[in-house]
Amino acid sequence: NLIYRDGVLGRTPTVPTDFDTLERRARRKMSAKGWAYVHGGAGLGRTMQANRDAFDKWQIVPRVLHDVSKRDIGVELFGRRIPAPVLLAPVGAAELARPEADVAIAAAAAELGVPYIFSNQGCAPMEESAAAMGDAPRWFQLYWSTDDDLVDSLLQRAANIRADAVVVTLDTTMLGWRPEDLNLGSLPFAQGQGIAQYTSDPVFRRIVHDRIKAAAKKPDVEVTLGAVRSLVSMTRRFPGRFLDNLRSPEPRAAVETFLDIYSRPSLSWADIETLRSRTSLPILLKGVLHPDDARRALDAGVDGIVVSNHGGRQVDGSVSSLDALVDIAPVVDGRLTLLLDSGIRTGADVFKALALGADAVTLGRPHLYGLALAGQAGARDATANVIAEFDLTMGLSGLTSVAEIDRDALRRA
Ligand code: FNR
Repeated sequence: NLIYRDGVLGRTPTVPTDFDTLERRARRKMSAKGWAYVHGGAGLGRTMQANRDAFDKWQIVPRVLHDVSKRDIGVELFGRRIPAPVLLAPVGAAELARPEADVAIAAAAAELGVPYIFSNQGCAPMEESAAAMGDAPRWFQLYWSTDDDLVDSLLQRAANIRADAVVVTLDTTMLGWRPEDLNLGSLPFAQGQGIAQYTSDPVFRRIVHDRIKAAAKKPDVEVTLGAVRSLVSMTRRFPGRFLDNLRSPEPRAAVETFLDIYSRPSLSWADIETLRSRTSLPILLKGVLHPDDARRALDAGVDGIVVSNHGGRQVDGSVSSLDALVDIAPVVDGRLTLLLDSGIRTGADVFKALALGADAVTLGRPHLYGLALAGQAGARDATANVIAEFDLTMGLSGLTSVAEIDRDALRRA
């Protein structure tokens, strides 16, 4: 455990090794709007709190005198070995935490060999992030657009960049009630951030061009004036990247088109059933919290689910992800890949999630805070710290592999 050795030898780590200090320091590096967006949750933040509290309802009961000198924390997901049961969660508009965020996180994930799930609302085209990763594992997260051709195009691009899986996020058919962003008047997408997967997509660009053409047939002075005004203000706020991403389509038309079509609130199980014929990649459903929905996911023949409440950013007062996992794991009973996120802050949290039935976990805010503090190295080390603590927790509990971690390792507090 190199991180631990560094500590003993008196070397200061790149980023604080505990989450609360990490968060506090990262806050100082971020703008008020960046902090509100990354840290903030839905409503009064009750679900965010519940996500963390849920881990305290379980205690680890370590066993002694087991030979733990050799340990393996690797797991296999969809036929691919990964070095730890940890992935980096999809995070949209991450440039609010730090410029050039997506490529830096991708490179950090590649350094560790843990998969990075590219957000559909990334700030860089997925091709650019993938190019920073060599052969390291990458997945793609989809928000199901109202435009089916766009969905197919995004799925095709994910296959082209050799994504190992597609994660369809189901809990964000509409953005949750997020007072911290609302109070600052800070909605990232309306400012043109987080739409690079769209503006780099041929189908999306065609849709925007068609709209511009249709609008040109009936000129409207107000719309034209508004377009010029918003173009000027957006260019001021996001010089390089924003204009870059948009290349030819007119920015306001691109943002408006994005807002109109990025998500489909009418999405139903029937849509999910069509997904199998549209991609050959493994399919995971993200945002499942109810055991009956887990049953339906099994019936729909998907390959995995991500038990998640979006880091407490969608329904305030919703069940914590760990509590949901406790109900869902017996339903799934090993028949599909079970991931968990929302509230994982430490290696011990990872251990508890695995003991309660998850095959792996994904981290959201931890790697973003690392990124905000120290770029690629920060995202890497914030993640590496959680993994290292997980390895120690497993060994100190008397276990030598992830397969050995089960409910027997825990008791209810
Ligand atoms: C997210 N999350 C998210 N999820 C998703 O499917 N697509 C997305 O674009 C985003 N964007 C996003 C931005 C930011 C700033 C955050 C913090 C989160 C949710 C994310 O994938 C994950 O579910 C949570 O972050 C996990 O909770 P923790 O680890 O942040 O507590």
